[in-house]
Amino acid sequence: MHIGIFETSDAASDAAAELIIDLFSRKPHATLGVATGSTPEKLYARLRAAHAAGTFTLKNSSAFALDEYVGIAEDHPQRYRNVLRRELVGKDKTGLTEAGLNTPDAGADDPEQAALVYDRMIGGSGGIDLQILGIGVDGHIGFNEPGGSLVSRTHIEALAGQTISDNARFFNGDTSQVPRRCITQGLGTIMEAKRLVLLAFGANKADAVAQLVEGPISAKWPATIMQMHPDVVAITDTAAASKLEFADLYQERWRLAKGE
Ligand code: F6R
Repeated sequence: MHIGIFETSDAASDAAAELIIDLFSRKPHATLGVATGSTPEKLYARLRAAHAAGTFTLKNSSAFALDEYVGIAEDHPQRYRNVLRRELVGKDKTGLTEAGLNTPDAGADDPEQAALVYDRMIGGSGGIDLQILGIGVDGHIGFNEPGGSLVSRTHIEALAGQTISDNARFFNGDTSQVPRRCITQGLGTIMEAKRLVLLAFGANKADAVAQLVEGPISAKWPATIMQMHPDVVAITDTAAASKLEFADLYQERWRLAKGE
């Protein structure tokens, strides 16, 4: 795992944007896995700026969301398809088309079947070249909460109490408005992406980041499965990295990879 530790989330988001822009300059039809939540917002702003500058476009690409709430109204601003539309879709954003944006059909009559279909769609697309990830305070990636299978496929998940209270900020601070269920890419699905780029900002993510990088692989901290992936880049600010025992080594290794 490569760990980049930056003073600010702005600098960290610059570094993540650089990785993505570089991938698309080499492979313009690459498939991008996209996260929601607040962590990737600055990254998406940078991708929009690069699109405006003509150095980046998703117009020829497909994007796959990590997850979607079950039981949320189609026009709800926090439905992840709507969030991702606002962030990425259109010529004035990143060039991603409406048809190019894939999200689990969580409003389907049979969400379990919809999860299966979504998993197959990812495989059928040729797979995800680069998956952007955030991390939950409880160590979830996607919405794979503690205690689940480390090799799961896309499935319906129950959100943990921690996640519901963390996400209440998107629902007027009211936990009762946060959906209880979602469809999420499984850990096995996420692990099939060719490259995983995880972002983590703020002191409240420090425990999860320490477990991700240095903890034992365990269903208690689902993100730890990423230690088994050959190409992971974790990009954090100093607050999220504050509990890493070997931070100096990781920074040295980062400089080595940059040829410094
Ligand atoms: C979102 C997702 C989640 C978030 C995580 C962190 O699609 O899959 O894993 O990345 O809950 O959320 P924020 O970024 O809001 O702290």
